Amino acid sequence: MSEKKRPEPKRLFIETYGCQMNVYDSERMRDVLSPLGYAPVDKPDDADLVVLNTCHIREKATEKVYSEIGRLRAHKERRAGEGKTTTIAIAGCVAQAEGEEIIARAPEVDLVVGPQAYHKLPELIARAARKTGERLAADFTAQEKFDALPARAPDGVSAFLSIQEGCDKFCTFCVVPYTRGAEYSRPVADILAEARALADAGVREITLLGQNVNAYHGEGSSGFADLLSAIAEINGIARIRYTTSHPVEMTEELIALHGAEPKLMPYLHLPVQSGSDRVLKAMNRKHDGAFYRGIIARLRAARPDIALSTDFIVGFPGERDQDFEETMALVRDVRFASAYSFKYSPRPGTPAAAMMGQVKEEAKAERLAALQALLSEQQRAFNESQIGRTLDILVAGRGRRPGQAHGRSPYLQAVHFMDERARDGEIVRVKIIGATQNSLTGERVVAETEAA
Ligand code: 5AD
Ligand code: SF4
Repeated sequence: MSEKKRPEPKRLFIETYGCQMNVYDSERMRDVLSPLGYAPVDKPDDADLVVLNTCHIREKATEKVYSEIGRLRAHKERRAGEGKTTTIAIAGCVAQAEGEEIIARAPEVDLVVGPQAYHKLPELIARAARKTGERLAADFTAQEKFDALPARAPDGVSAFLSIQEGCDKFCTFCVVPYTRGAEYSRPVADILAEARALADAGVREITLLGQNVNAYHGEGSSGFADLLSAIAEINGIARIRYTTSHPVEMTEELIALHGAEPKLMPYLHLPVQSGSDRVLKAMNRKHDGAFYRGIIARLRAARPDIALSTDFIVGFPGERDQDFEETMALVRDVRFASAYSFKYSPRPGTPAAAMMGQVKEEAKAERLAALQALLSEQQRAFNESQIGRTLDILVAGRGRRPGQAHGRSPYLQAVHFMDERARDGEIVRVKIIGATQNSLTGERVVAETEAA
């Protein structure tokens, strides 16, 4: 009997940069490639296919791609010496924005694929393997992408679900409207089918994703709040979150839902970018500081314990000390539970890159340090304010120490607690006993009936 050797599974390594949209897309790329025999590995060493899922939002993120391609060249050459072929694919927003340049600059790259064309990956890889010399993927629409992607294979109790892509807001600093294109919302029926499939697979928490997620206006719904209510009806789904939102799309209905829908978690990421009306205007954010403060006040009236998170850019062209002080004042007034802050990075082709009054690097660095110190203080204070409270924790896995479990609070804080029995996906009551800037520790509260 001749022994037939099963073909070795091919190793797939995906490196994900940037936002949660990319995290979601990387998962979907794994799903697309799995029927071809690609099994994910967590290191690039000895991977047959390496995908860099890239981010174009700031210059640093883009530069990283080119240095990583340099490292992959060595990887490819080393494997070639061992008689193995390696396929290198560049995906994501840098692929979309600089595809031709990557092809011209980096001969070791086999294919470049924009965010709307991931369903074409198997075909592109096959073509690359035939060495047709054709290395640039065509662009597709968001709708085609969603229709063509296979069913999900979630692993874990929390999952992202992409409902909307692209942006029509054209903030003057941002490349997204150019890289991800115009806003597209998926039909409600498709989203609900995906959410039900996730629930059936054991997912308890869904985070709806979109570049402008609350601008959602998909076929079959009267808007984003309506979609949230429909998802909340799905059995098994215990928690719903969404990101990233734009202040001008925070409708009354959506704000009210934060008070009315218990599955909607009391945590909201709502980027403000600046506290100065002058700067907000130059950024084309379409609202001023008072408008943002008004939304926060109404959200807190609807849901008093809501935790807020935001994004800031410091050193936007024309930002004076006084403008920056207005940002600091807004932070002091609102009190954020967490935040991301960045130095303004001029992006090619965006209006702000050509504006007068570019701010010097030293001023940007100084402002960023001052802002981050204040934001860190607020994050620590928010975490410490949980000490003594008993929170519902969604168990997501085992901790590093034996007997330890970890999960997330309603406010998205990481929580560690000792519990041998906690099962993934269970929601348990944990009394918070310790806090650091980044996480909480607690003790499981055993209900009296259970203890008896
Ligand atoms: N420079 C710095 N930060 C930027 N962001 C977007 N574009 C730029 C840029 N050119 C930040 C914004 C946005 C977050 C995703 O990235 O704060 O909300
Ligand atoms: Fe970029 Fe502004 Fe659109 Fe957000 S709303 S993706 S910052 S253009």
